[in-house]
Amino acid sequence: MKKERRQFDLVLWGATSFVGKIIAEYLLQRVSELTDFRWALGARNPEKLARLQSELGSELPVFVGDSFDRSFLEDMASQTSVILTTVGPYMKYGESLVAACALKGTDYCDLTGEAGFVQKMIDEYEATARESGARLVNCAGFDSLPSDLGVLHLNEHCERVLGSGLRRVEMQVRAAKGGVSGGTVASGIETVAQLQKDPGLKSVLANPYAICPEGRRSGVRQPSLSAAKRSEFNGDWLHDFVMAPVNTKVVHATNARLDYPYGDDFIYSEWQVANNAFMAYLGRFGVGAAMLALYFPWTRALLQRFVLPEPGEGPDRKTREQGYFALLFCGETRAGRMVTCRVTGDADPGYGSTAKQISEVAIGLSRSLPLSEKAGGFWTPASSLGLKLRGPLTQHAGLKFESPVTGLAPRISS
Ligand SMILES: NC(=O)c1ccc[n+]([C@@H]2O[C@H](COP(=O)([O-])OP(=O)(O)OC[C@H]3O[C@@H](n4cnc5c(N)ncnc54)[C@H](OP(=O)(O)O)[C@@H]3O)[C@@H](O)[C@H]2O)c1
Repeated sequence: MKKERRQFDLVLWGATSFVGKIIAEYLLQRVSELTDFRWALGARNPEKLARLQSELGSELPVFVGDSFDRSFLEDMASQTSVILTTVGPYMKYGESLVAACALKGTDYCDLTGEAGFVQKMIDEYEATARESGARLVNCAGFDSLPSDLGVLHLNEHCERVLGSGLRRVEMQVRAAKGGVSGGTVASGIETVAQLQKDPGLKSVLANPYAICPEGRRSGVRQPSLSAAKRSEFNGDWLHDFVMAPVNTKVVHATNARLDYPYGDDFIYSEWQVANNAFMAYLGRFGVGAAMLALYFPWTRALLQRFVLPEPGEGPDRKTREQGYFALLFCGETRAGRMVTCRVTGDADPGYGSTAKQISEVAIGLSRSLPLSEKAGGFWTPASSLGLKLRGPLTQHAGLKFESPVTGLAPRISS
């Protein structure tokens, strides 16, 4: 079944955010290669939108409105096939748009890394989205697309070439260079604020299966993501990776949404690699100290005042263009074979590369995913477009999915 064509193929909502402007720049060039692709920008502030159009040299149609104005959002959603939204913190600003898209059968993708938001949206709107045919894809940036698709890519190779799927995977962040935006900081702070208001959120954040569909939110015990330790795969020193709590949930949600291609006892964890034991313990201490500093109101206020970027600010173009990331997936098949592969990106993970990743998800939803192939409901990047994304991400978005290699994982040192 095909959805009827609407006035627009895509609306970029939150076009004036820090990451929204980078997405707009990428889309402008990227969709010029597509035939008859109609898109529009949306934001709350018409002056900012006009400034963006003049920076881009574009005259795109615009939607101006507020993310709390439900009738505006429903009207916008009914005019487009897909909405890509950057308006976050999503827990604060995101719900009405999800509700509008679910109601109007509009496909949706976002950049949230807020697991509490995703679980709440699934619980509230999955039934409506199933009925309307809206496909809602969360976490379509660096959190958590490379992790999600990396595991699917490795598993596909194991099944096809080695005849046995994955039993467990340890993802190691081998290199990453970039920066952080005020919007990302605001989302982290919003999660802390929500935790203080609603202690129940703690159990959501602690559950690796929290954003699986209802009825599938438990499973085998997963490794703790907080430690300084040596890898069981290659002996390298590892410590906490800040995005691991959300990325691991997305990988398990993909497994559950696709009816367990990795098995219902699949084990997954993510880590930052360190050069030696001292750096691993230092890294662990650093992550813990940062979390504590964000938790207490007075240290949080000091950080916001003197250290952290404001909403709308983030790494400059040079930092983004000189950025990169390299992730190593170390896996063991059910037959006991060791296998590894790398996923890399050619720009800073959080903004330059994220902008390209979510744009390709939005284009894929609009062009490559008939309703007969993927029904309405909540999906992850890998459970929605899956391996179809590998081509566009490689050709246009600077990601590389290296062919998996059988054997022991490489080590950094000795
Ligand atoms: N998954 C990932 O890898 C990843 C990477 C990067 C960012 N993110 C997330 O993406 C989000 C955006 O980040 P950012 O740094 O670009 O943030 P930002 O610059 O602070 O942008 C927030 C946007 O929300 C808009 N907004 C706020 N209240 C609104 C309202 N009531 N109605 C309409 N629009 C409203 C703001 O509009 P104005 O422009 O008018 O102020 C602004 O455009 C954050 O949640 C961040 O955590 C995720």
